[in-house]
Amino acid sequence: MSALANECQAINLSQGFPNFPIDQRLKDLFKEQLDLNVHQYAPLSGLVELREQITRKIFLHYQRELNASNVLITAGATQAIFATIQAMVHPGEEVVILDPSYDCYESPVLLSGAKPVRIPLTEDFLPDWERIRSNVSDRTKLIITNNPHNPSGMVWDKEDFKELQSLLNDFPNLWVLSDEVYEFITFEKKHISAHQIDGLKDRSIVVSSFGKTFHVTGWKIGYLTAPTEVMTEIQKVHQFLVFCVNSPAQSTLAHYLPETDLTNLGSFYQQKRDFFRARLKNSRFTLLPSEGSYFQVASYKNISSESDVEFSKRITKEFGVASIPLSVFHADNRDQKLIRFCFAKDEETLTEAAQRLCKI
Ligand SMILES: Cc1ncc(COP(=O)(O)O)c(C=O)c1O
Repeated sequence: MSALANECQAINLSQGFPNFPIDQRLKDLFKEQLDLNVHQYAPLSGLVELREQITRKIFLHYQRELNASNVLITAGATQAIFATIQAMVHPGEEVVILDPSYDCYESPVLLSGAKPVRIPLTEDFLPDWERIRSNVSDRTKLIITNNPHNPSGMVWDKEDFKELQSLLNDFPNLWVLSDEVYEFITFEKKHISAHQIDGLKDRSIVVSSFGKTFHVTGWKIGYLTAPTEVMTEIQKVHQFLVFCVNSPAQSTLAHYLPETDLTNLGSFYQQKRDFFRARLKNSRFTLLPSEGSYFQVASYKNISSESDVEFSKRITKEFGVASIPLSVFHADNRDQKLIRFCFAKDEETLTEAAQRLCKI
């Protein structure tokens, strides 16, 4: 959709990336690093200074004490997810993926020779625990969770974590790959992390992304945390995938992290969500709730009976706003007449996009 948006010179609300400037301080720190001796390979796990800062942040936000050796710096969350699946999953095993799901989960499972078991979320985009339970067995190695959720923007409740805890109790071989790249972007509800839950944190690999948290998606830098026995295996895959990750970016982030206050990120994006929603109030779209992430899902049932793929392509070409059809996040490509907009944009872009969308 980004390619189509460029071709049509449409406003691109499809792919999830911010279009506003990043923090000047972050840029200045990066420039400073370039004059220092930070241009050679970093250690395999990442700079210890950065990993220590990450453990401090995890303690600050989630009150979990972790050792720097339980943190691995990765080339974005994507590589963290790939390395985890390759390390942990073997032929004959199964991995539960909850649909609609982000597109980088399934392929590494297939490459491992394992079977992806794709289970739809409820109509409200929350886990359908009964259905999940009936699809988990002793063959299930991993369940991949994503909270706050892309594409729906929904956020899990305490009850969801109780269900997950109980599932882990019943299936001692089951692990959780917890994709929390939007951990600091929640609105009315506070984010609950796998880091905070007893019985879950020691059975979870938690994935985070500096790209999402500091508006630097192009830096492709993130991290995962894992218990020692699993980390040893993940590092073996990491070694031959990338060995180590961009040193100047690591060094910059090690200096930047202690200066940042991530508690403001939710309200920063909440303002954008509210700004965008207010401007779509008089459109013919029905807006679904957005509790977290920087995505807004909209139903166009009142506007057209076209498939979501046809509809989003047409409005890109005819009205100049690109979105993502939700069917592409489902194994069965189910068409619920829903499209996703990314509101990580400046106000000018959101205003212009909303004006165009109100004409549909
Ligand atoms: C749910 C989810 N997981 C992982 C990623 C990948 O993050 P990164 O750019 O850090 O690889 C994204 C990016 O859009 C995402 O939305």
